[in-house]
Amino acid sequence: MKTSLTGIKPTNLPHLGNYLGAIRPALALAERYRTFYFIADYHALTSVRDPEALAGHVRDVAATWLAAGLDPSETLLYRQSDVIEVFELSWILSCLLATGQLERGHAYKDALAKGEAPNVGLFNYPVLMAADILLYDTDVVPVGKDQLQHLELTRDVAQRFNHVFGDDFPILVVPEALISEAPLVPGTDGEKMSKSRGNSIPLFAPAKKLRKVVMGIKTDSKGLDEPKDPEGSAVVALLEQLSPERAVVVSEKLRAGGYGWGHAKQELYEAIEQELGPLRERYEELRADEAKLDAILHDGAERARSIARRTIGRVRSAVGIDPLPRDRATLKLRTR
Ligand code: ADP
Ligand code: TRP
Repeated sequence: MKTSLTGIKPTNLPHLGNYLGAIRPALALAERYRTFYFIADYHALTSVRDPEALAGHVRDVAATWLAAGLDPSETLLYRQSDVIEVFELSWILSCLLATGQLERGHAYKDALAKGEAPNVGLFNYPVLMAADILLYDTDVVPVGKDQLQHLELTRDVAQRFNHVFGDDFPILVVPEALISEAPLVPGTDGEKMSKSRGNSIPLFAPAKKLRKVVMGIKTDSKGLDEPKDPEGSAVVALLEQLSPERAVVVSEKLRAGGYGWGHAKQELYEAIEQELGPLRERYEELRADEAKLDAILHDGAERARSIARRTIGRVRSAVGIDPLPRDRATLKLRTR
């Protein structure tokens, strides 16, 4: 079975766009792949300066994924910082990368363009991400398009490693990106839902708050009786991802006239509540029991580490840090 791995940065409370665009599709992969999902707290540290917020968001993310249906006995769920081998690999990989490659990083370049003084963590971010991926012999990485550059760098450094140290056989698996086919989820202003735009629909807000946010979605100002165009409407686009059948019915009613945006929003609110209501209850229960959440994460980390140790063992031998085994064939990837 192939391995799918992805990292989630614990920098905010997940919104509906994260759920529909990343969480739901990633969980569906558990049927076809061996799945590894980890909380990238060291990546978050490039920007987060509030220790309580960081620790809190790690648990928020863990509880969200578990509430959404992640089964920790099937999927490895762990905290990046619990697997220290990732740093060893990160350093070794960084010695194979040209500084120019990191200087071309989108996040780093954007920070410079804004006149910020990016920290070294932000500069090195893609190297740590490559180590996250290569440490587990990952075959596919489900990510958003914005992460493609990082995946290219990961593939590049893995190939270079194999070329330099692998002789005739690969030591690191070269992964593929798996880009979600799901359309982008629009926010309340019709633009891409994003935490930084302030247009998010929160995932686990109380029902009353959720309804208020849904009722605030921007629409045209056509009156109740007028026929309306469902195309391009955020209300209908959201409904399509939650309940395609309801979306068809609502679109017909909007086109016919005599049906207001308020009615359509009420349908959307009900569809969200139907899918997320039960998740919210599970989320609240899970989030309240921090000891249990931590135990799940530690158990995941233990299992993840046993795999990481094998990879790092191969890598250390290959580069000459550990004594080379007499038979270099023992460095070979384990049979999967
Ligand atoms: P944000 O854009 O709010 O900062 P992140 O960059 O933390 O969200 O995204 C986490 C994951 O959620 C990524 O895989 C990203 O592709 C997905 N995602 C975020 N916003 C959306 C959206 N509006 N539609 C679909 N997927 C999204
Ligand atoms: N960079 C990713 C993001 O911003 C998070 C991440 C860290 C990641 N390590 C990863 C994703 C490894 C996939 C694989 O969303």
